[in-house]
Amino acid sequence: MMTDPATLTIRPATALRGQITVPGDKSISHRAVMFAALAHGASTIRGWLPAGDTLATLGAIRALGVPVERPDPTTLLVQGGTLRPPREPLHLDNAGTGLRLLAGILAGQPFPSTLDGSAQLRRRPMRRLTEPLRLMGARVTDTDGLPPLHFEPAHLRGIHYAMPIASGQVKSALLLAGLFADGPTTVIQPGPARDHTERLLLSMGADLTLNGNTVTLRPGNPLRPLDLTVPGDFSSAAFLLVAATIVPGSQVILENVDLNPTRTGLLDVLMAMGARIAVTETGTAGGDPVGTLSVAATPLRACEVAGETVVRMIDEFPILMIAALCAEGETTVRDARELRVKETDRIAVMAAELRKMGAVIAEHEDGFTIRGPQQLHGAVVDGHDDHRIAMSLAVAGLIATATTVVNDAACAADSFPGFAATLAQLGAQVL
Ligand code: S3P
Repeated sequence: MMTDPATLTIRPATALRGQITVPGDKSISHRAVMFAALAHGASTIRGWLPAGDTLATLGAIRALGVPVERPDPTTLLVQGGTLRPPREPLHLDNAGTGLRLLAGILAGQPFPSTLDGSAQLRRRPMRRLTEPLRLMGARVTDTDGLPPLHFEPAHLRGIHYAMPIASGQVKSALLLAGLFADGPTTVIQPGPARDHTERLLLSMGADLTLNGNTVTLRPGNPLRPLDLTVPGDFSSAAFLLVAATIVPGSQVILENVDLNPTRTGLLDVLMAMGARIAVTETGTAGGDPVGTLSVAATPLRACEVAGETVVRMIDEFPILMIAALCAEGETTVRDARELRVKETDRIAVMAAELRKMGAVIAEHEDGFTIRGPQQLHGAVVDGHDDHRIAMSLAVAGLIATATTVVNDAACAADSFPGFAATLAQLGAQVL
C-alpha cells in the first residue's frame, strides 16, 4: 500500500492539469472480498482497492480461515466456501463498512466471534444494526450501543424491516444475515442507499428481488464465485472533481470512475452549481456504469441540497463545503444529520477546521449554510484521522492565499492511497 504523509503541506495552486485513473471503489472492494469468501469456489477480483479500510477487511476475512492470495496489490484470488472460528477478536481499524457488513455475516455463523476496531470506530453507533439483527434472532451484544460486538451462534429467521435511516451498511448487513436465515428477509429503505450489495449478490446468483426502495432476499441459492474488476471510486474522484472546478485554469480528466447513480449525487449538485464536467460512459464493471469525467475550472453558483440527493452523496459533504465556499450565493444543506455519526461529526469538524482558514459557516443540526464566495487564508488545520476531512482540507489549501498545513492526514490512505502524490501529479505543490 502506498503510504501517505502524516502531514500535508499545500501551497496555493495555479492550475491542475492531467489525466488520472481513480483507485478502486472502497464500498465494492469491501463487499467483493467478503462475498467471495461466502461463494463456493475460487473468485478473482481485479482493481481491488489496497487502502487502510479494505486491508482491515481483508485481514478479518483471512482470520476467518479463508485463503486469499494477492499476486499484486490490486488483485485478490479468494478460495471461498468455509468460514472458520477466528482465534481472536477481528480488528477492523477505522473501517465502519468492514465492521457493519461483517456483523451481518457473523450473526449467522455456527461459532462465536467478536468485532472490534480503533478508538474512532468504537465511537460509531451500532444499535441501528444490532436491533434488527436481534429481531432476526441474532445473539449479539454491543457495548452500550457501540463496538465491540460479540456474536454467539443463533438460529436466524427472516424479517420484514423498515429501516429508520437510509444506510447502505445496515441494509447490506441485514441482507447478508438473511443469507443464513430460514426465510425471506425484506428491507424497506427510506431513501436510495448505495446498492452495490444487491448488484453483486444478484450477479452471484442470489435470489433477490427489488421493488423501488424495497429489497427482498430469499436464502437457499448457493453463491457463485466472482470474476470482477472493481471500478474506480466516485467518492475519491470527488476531491479531484471539486479541486479542478475551483482552481482557475484547471483541466483534468478522471478515468475509470464508477457512475452508479446511488453514488453520483455530487455530480448532479456540481452540474446544478454550473460546473463544467463532461461525462462519457466507457463501459460497465461489476454491473455498474463506468466512465471518464473531464473537468474544467469554472465559477460556481450556490445550491440547495436536501432529501434523496443527500443519500446519494452522503460521503461528499466535506468536499461540497469547499465548493460552496467558492460559489456565488447561499448554499444550504439539510436532511444530512447522518454526517454527525461518520468517522467524525463531519459538520462540526469541517466547520471548525475551515474557520481556522477564515471561513464563515453556519451549522444546523442536520446540515449547514455557507454564503460565498469566501477567500480562505492559509492555516494549520487537522484531519482528525478522518480521510474525507483530511482530503477536503487539502483541497481547501489549493485555493487559500498562503500555505496550508493539514496535520493527522495519513488517514487519506484509508480510502485513497497516494492522494497527495496524485494531487502533485496534477501539478499541485503538495509536500
Ligand atoms: C457505505 C455506506 C455509507 C457510507 C460509507 C460506505 C457502504 O454509510 O457513508 O462510507 O459501503 O455501504 P452508511 O450506511 O452509514 O450511510
